[in-house]
Amino acid sequence: MYLDGVTKIKPFCPGCVQQGNIKQQEQMLSSLKEKETKGYLKGQSLVDRDDVFTYTFDNFRAKDDTPEAVLKERAGLIAGQYYEHLDIKGNSLLYGNAGAGKTHLAMAMLNAVNDNADPMVRCLFISVNKLIREMKNWFNDKTSLWSPKHVTDVVSKANLVVLDDLGAESATGTATSFVQDTIFDIYESNQRIITTTNLSMNELYSTYHSRLVSRMQEGYGGKAIDFTKVRDKRPLIGGANGSSDRLG
Ligand SMILES: Nc1ncnc2c1ncn2[C@@H]1O[C@H](COP(=O)(O)OP(=O)(O)OP(=O)(O)O)[C@@H](O)[C@H]1O
Ligand SMILES: [Mg+2]
Repeated sequence: MYLDGVTKIKPFCPGCVQQGNIKQQEQMLSSLKEKETKGYLKGQSLVDRDDVFTYTFDNFRAKDDTPEAVLKERAGLIAGQYYEHLDIKGNSLLYGNAGAGKTHLAMAMLNAVNDNADPMVRCLFISVNKLIREMKNWFNDKTSLWSPKHVTDVVSKANLVVLDDLGAESATGTATSFVQDTIFDIYESNQRIITTTNLSMNELYSTYHSRLVSRMQEGYGGKAIDFTKVRDKRPLIGGANGSSDRLG
């Protein structure tokens, strides 16, 4: 703007500039912090398919007074305990039929912790089958990522971990010592682990060492959720956003 032919210069306020810079730095720090904590789930997890990240309590359908409603409520309560008590140790076990929603509710619990924990924490999801394949790959190619040390590192840095589909890696009904040692190291590295499995308690005991099975429910409250009364949803829907009204 011109005044008597002279450019009017906006008054310079060093204090305001400094305040602006501080605000910008704070915003950068907080988005870095968010990436480092909430972003851990997508950044470090080992999933079979990316749509697993979309599983939440909101898109887990359950009509009133159905087994699904009971499971959803129970998983919701456990998730609440995890994010309200970020330091309490305790593992949980979700067991039962294929397609019953174990993976869905396990990821929903991680998403709930990601959304509600204050301060923000790191969550991690690991597909056991995929982990074992990645680790075997590492033994052949030491430049690949999933070394035993990497596994211990990512697991121990997480506040809450899902070990998904334990048993799928041991289709013969007996886990090799490599698998047992790997799983045992994971339970040693973190004591806030949610395990999902298709195996019954008897099958768990015949597949894994008993000290490993007892670890699965160890700690605060020892929580197990039984999905055996729920039928397989896979033939009915195309996933979390499927449209069948036969759910729940
Ligand atoms: N109540 C539900 N509402 C919405 N989607 C559901 C529900 N239950 C299951 N699903 C969906 O059905 C599919 C199978 O569920 P999920 O993978 O959680 O089963 P699972 O118990 O982990 O099975 P498996 O033992 O074979 O791993 C997923 O796409 C999941 O999102
Ligand atoms: Mg599953």
